[in-house]
Amino acid sequence: MFSNLTKQPTDKIMAMMGKFKADPRVGKIDLGVGVYKNAEGITPVMRAVKAAEHKLWEEQQSKAYVGLVGDPAYADAMISLVLGEAVSRDKIAAAATPGGTGAVRQAFEMIKMANPEARVFVSDPTWPNHISILGYLGIEAVSYRYFNSETRGVDFAGMQEDLEGLKPGDVVLLHGCCHNPTGANLTLDQWQLVIDQLNAKGAIPMIDIAYQGFGDGLEEDAQATRLVASSVPECLIAASCSKNFGIYRERTGLLLAVAQDADLQALTQDNLSSLNRLNYSFPPDHGARVVTMILNDDALRADWKAELEAVRLEMLALREQLAGELKRLSNSDRFDFIGRHRGMFSLLGTTPDMVEVLRANNAVYMVPDSRMNIAGLDTATVPILAKAIIDAGI
Ligand code: LMR
Repeated sequence: MFSNLTKQPTDKIMAMMGKFKADPRVGKIDLGVGVYKNAEGITPVMRAVKAAEHKLWEEQQSKAYVGLVGDPAYADAMISLVLGEAVSRDKIAAAATPGGTGAVRQAFEMIKMANPEARVFVSDPTWPNHISILGYLGIEAVSYRYFNSETRGVDFAGMQEDLEGLKPGDVVLLHGCCHNPTGANLTLDQWQLVIDQLNAKGAIPMIDIAYQGFGDGLEEDAQATRLVASSVPECLIAASCSKNFGIYRERTGLLLAVAQDADLQALTQDNLSSLNRLNYSFPPDHGARVVTMILNDDALRADWKAELEAVRLEMLALREQLAGELKRLSNSDRFDFIGRHRGMFSLLGTTPDMVEVLRANNAVYMVPDSRMNIAGLDTATVPILAKAIIDAGI
């Protein structure tokens, strides 16, 4: 049987993680996978997470199953974090998932269950795993223009033109904030125009929000998602706690489906439960429980928000430093976009060959599409990266 298997395509982010690990060079710089690292190169357990885990260790009496869609208290706490008061609770179906990727996967599965003809429009570029999962599920992915390689901002006219190709029932995948991989984001006015276009076409938005709190702030980063959820009849939202709670390996995500009314909410909720049961039965609980404890405790929540905000400001400062250093070395403003981008990533906008030059000559690792994880830098490595970029002739 196993001899019938064929070698699977390697995910570019995973491949690069492996190459980085195997590189013996001292001083190698990892700008690959989207994981925050502090100035010591460590991805710390956040203070509030440690405190909640400590409390949990002392108080938890049982590890028995919780529920097919997880603890309702987790869903409530996350709905309020992501959606605020934008949508009434009785319209929202929710299921805890293993990480944001689990939420994305379940959302795609649900789209296929509800409408096998639906196509999913994805930004060009998008997180590579979006395309891989769609392909695996046999769902047609259609690219829409998103990134302007001249300005390194959003090609909004191109995006709107491509979304004109939507048919009723198609789904449009949008990044709620901190676009991965580009770092270029829509303005709220542009979001409104996209919403109007989707509503006119009868298309359904699906939002992937994996970096809330890393762009312009916890509330600010949720604004677009809230605007969408309150302005369309139906939408899907895949949320991740991996980055903003720093609990990557705990696999903590949530899929939300905003339905038109309470009856459709109940039907959608039933389908989400069934999908969890079919795929993995009960979702992981530890990370979700820790998140719930933090969000529902004033002191823990305040401490978590403060630590997250410090991380966000640190990344912004690194952006500014890198843009400034590149301005000085190139004697031009062509790298100013790095300061304008938001979130963990910036797409440098160079070729895979140039990315390989940076790897070979300078032990700088980024994804072949030239996505840089800004959080992989520190004040000492920024000048090294800037010099490498200029030396490579980028
Ligand atoms: C990334 O884009 O680097 C992260 O979302 C991690 C992953 O699973 O790819």
